[in-house]
Amino acid sequence: MSPAAPRWLTALSTALEKEAKVPKHLGGVFQLATIDPGPPPTARVRSCIHRELLTSAKSPALPLLLTTTDIRTPKVAQLGANDRAEGVFWTESTQEQFRVTGRAALVPSPTEERGPKVEATVMGADYDWEAKRRAVFDSLSGHMRASWCRPTPGTPLASYDDAKEWPETVPRLSEAESESDKRNVQTALGNFALVIIEPTEVDYVELGSVPQRRTRFVWKGEGEGWAEQIVVP
Ligand SMILES: Cc1cc2nc3c(=O)[nH]c(=O)nc-3n(C[C@H](O)[C@H](O)[C@H](O)COP(=O)(O)O)c2cc1C
Repeated sequence: MSPAAPRWLTALSTALEKEAKVPKHLGGVFQLATIDPGPPPTARVRSCIHRELLTSAKSPALPLLLTTTDIRTPKVAQLGANDRAEGVFWTESTQEQFRVTGRAALVPSPTEERGPKVEATVMGADYDWEAKRRAVFDSLSGHMRASWCRPTPGTPLASYDDAKEWPETVPRLSEAESESDKRNVQTALGNFALVIIEPTEVDYVELGSVPQRRTRFVWKGEGEGWAEQIVVP
């Protein structure tokens, strides 16, 4: 065991860099599974865009996976009931699968009650999550920001044409000038949340190796780091 950055983390970082260079890539996309308490209890899975692997000097071996969502989506209620989640990446360019299991938490608007709130432990008690949320909001495209101004995701629509009434683009926080832009920025920012996954286990499959390799990593806590076990692919 080693407290240093684990092999799966360097492999995932390298694979995501390679995927980003593939034309028309969707390499930043992973599938995120949650548990819907039901009844009946049901597995739910959906695609999400991977935004960042967050690491801190305090815990360089324990990266946090960062994606974003709309606080009104069902996944948030599911995580509120059970914060266990699993994300899986398939990186075509490196022929690798990374299945990352852990706890998911949210960084929503400070006045928002829904979902499990992030605990600052890994990034340090002083980490400013609201500043991070705003920075990620500003880093996204105006079209993406506009998606958080839509009516509640998953609710019925009378016609596809209803979407023509929704804002197409929303400016960055500091760039809203008209009253409607200012209103839209506040609506979008209010619905916008970071989703942070803190891994506890990683199942890493190297399909391109001959023979194929599979390794299971289990987080043993600060100091001990990741236990690594080679397993049958
Ligand atoms: C390629 C792709 C990327 C997506 N990225 C995200 C994302 O980053 N965050 C998100 O909440 N939904 C994303 N979605 C939409 C989700 O897959 C899903 O339809 C939506 O979030 C509702 O999920 P829920 O009802 O399970 O909460 C993406 C969909 C696709 C097809």
